[in-house]
Amino acid sequence: MRKIIVSPSLLSADFTNIQKELNIIEKSGAEWLHFDVMDGHFVPNISFGVPVLKSIANKHHMLNDVHIMISNPMFYAPKFIEAGADLVTFHYEAVKKADVTHVIDLIKSKNCKVGISIKPSTDVKKIYPFLDKLDVVLIMSVEPGFGGQKFLDSALDKIAKLRKTIDKMHLSTLIEVDGGINSDTGRKCVNAGADVLVAGSYLFGQKDLKKRINNLKRI
Ligand code: DX5
Ligand code: ZN
Repeated sequence: MRKIIVSPSLLSADFTNIQKELNIIEKSGAEWLHFDVMDGHFVPNISFGVPVLKSIANKHHMLNDVHIMISNPMFYAPKFIEAGADLVTFHYEAVKKADVTHVIDLIKSKNCKVGISIKPSTDVKKIYPFLDKLDVVLIMSVEPGFGGQKFLDSALDKIAKLRKTIDKMHLSTLIEVDGGINSDTGRKCVNAGADVLVAGSYLFGQKDLKKRINNLKRI
């Protein structure tokens, strides 16, 4: 069976107790830590940026999974890598088609893993030409910008198509899903072929966090 990785989204964390939050999720079995960076331009919300990543990146042992929902990934990606990102995932919709490869190569040249994310309205086929260069494809299962939204079932078909394509090409690119993930929607994503589940509101502030992480990992 495929190994499922859980990446808790810090967007739902209690920032007044951040070290405690990090310790709890790490001890509960999360392997990645998801940073939702929002610029108030690519998405209609502002979250946190480089200084926050820098102060948190080495306070735990999880992989720093940085999802940049910003308009200028070419300019900002190197700054997030310098601040401790292990994986930078930028949005396909944020760059001109001709620049996608440049952004991928830039991130890889800094010894960082690279991912591309697509919004619910973007066809997954658009990513296929870049698949062999990518460590991760992040399928958004809500409109990017806010935590706590309802999972969009349309993501499942994209995951299944992508799984088939990745397997047919014999690639090790991981499929990550982000938005509205709980035990029910998480199971559907895993069945469709997902490898990494991002979850915010389903995990943070919950007493049975370990059980919930295990639910997502299907342990
Ligand atoms: C939305 C973010 C998600 C979000 C997930 O733009 O990319 O990571 O925080 O939160 P939940 O799990 O609450 O949908
Ligand atoms: Zn995210």
